[in-house]
Amino acid sequence: MMTKVILDVDTGIDDALAIIYGIESKKVDLVGITTVNGNVPLHMVNKNTRKVLQLIGRTDIQVYPGADRPLLREPEHEYRVHGTDGIGNALDDVHLEEAEDNMFAPDFIIEQAKKYKGDLTVILVGPVTNLALALRKEPKIAEWIKEVIIMGGLVSEAGKGNKLPNSEFNIFADAESAAIVFHSGLEVTLVSLDVTMKTFMNLEHIEKLKGTKYYDFVLNSTEVFRGFSQKRYKKNGCALHDPLTVGYFIDPSYIKTEKYFVDVETVSPLGYGQTICDFRNIWEKEPNVNICVDVDAERFVNDFIETLKQAK
Ligand code: RIB
Ligand code: CA
Repeated sequence: MMTKVILDVDTGIDDALAIIYGIESKKVDLVGITTVNGNVPLHMVNKNTRKVLQLIGRTDIQVYPGADRPLLREPEHEYRVHGTDGIGNALDDVHLEEAEDNMFAPDFIIEQAKKYKGDLTVILVGPVTNLALALRKEPKIAEWIKEVIIMGGLVSEAGKGNKLPNSEFNIFADAESAAIVFHSGLEVTLVSLDVTMKTFMNLEHIEKLKGTKYYDFVLNSTEVFRGFSQKRYKKNGCALHDPLTVGYFIDPSYIKTEKYFVDVETVSPLGYGQTICDFRNIWEKEPNVNICVDVDAERFVNDFIETLKQAK
C-alpha cells in the first residue's frame, strides 16, 4: 500500500513542475494539495495550482487553501523568478470553474494525519506556514505524520543563498514557521539548495520533450525563470528545486542524507532564514533534521524528463 501524500505548494514554476512530475510518476498517492503564500500571493497560488491540475487532467485532486501570509513577517514575493502571475503566464488561456469551498489547509493536514496515522508524508515545497499552524493547533501530528520532506535552506554552501547570502527563499519567507517545524519532533528531511542547485534543467533537456504533452508548458512557463538564471548564474535553465524534493520521496536513492542538529535564524537582519547545521555538534543537541550531502543529479534530471515525456 503506497504511503499517502499531501503536497504543500506556493505555485510557482518549479512547484508546477513538481506537481506534474509527482502525478505523472504514478508513484505518489496524493490525498490533496495544500497552498500557501510564497512565490506569489495566495490567490495566485490557488489559481495556478488549479490550472496545472486542469492541464494534467486531474481536477479530481482537491486544493486546500492555507495561510495567506507568514506567521509574523511581512510577505515578500518572487515575481522576478516566477513572472507576474507565478507560472510565467504560460496558462493564461486556461479557464477555471468556480473553486470548491475546501477546508483550511492546516485543518486538512491535521484531519489527514489523524486518519492515516503513521502512513502520511507531507512534502512541502514552499514556506512551511501551514504545517507550523497545524502543529500549534494539534501538536500530536508530530507523532502521527510519518515524515515531512521540505524544499528549503542551505547547509554547506556558505554564501550561496538565493534570498540573502546564507538564506534560501522558502525558509526566508517564514523563518519562524521553519523553527516551529524543526523543533517539533517531526521526522524532517531538508532538500536544500546544496543539492537542488545541481539539478539544473537546461534547454537541451527541455527539447527532449518536443512533441509531447508538456513541452509547450515547460518551455513557456520556464522562460522567465531561465532568464533570471541566465542573469544570476550565467546559465539558461532552471534548478529543479521542487521536483527534486518530490523525487526524494519517489526514490530516496537520488540523495545521500545525514542527520544533524539544525536551527533557524529568526532575528538577525543579515541572516534571517539561515538554516544553521551543527556539523561539529558544538551545541551538543540531539540531531533533528536529515540534511542532504550529495545528489545523483544527472540521473534525477534524466528521470524527471523521461517521466514527463511518457505522459499521455
Ligand atoms: O528557493 C527555491 C524555492 O523557493 C522553490 O520552492 C521555489 O518554488 C520557491 O518557492
Ligand atoms: Ca516552491
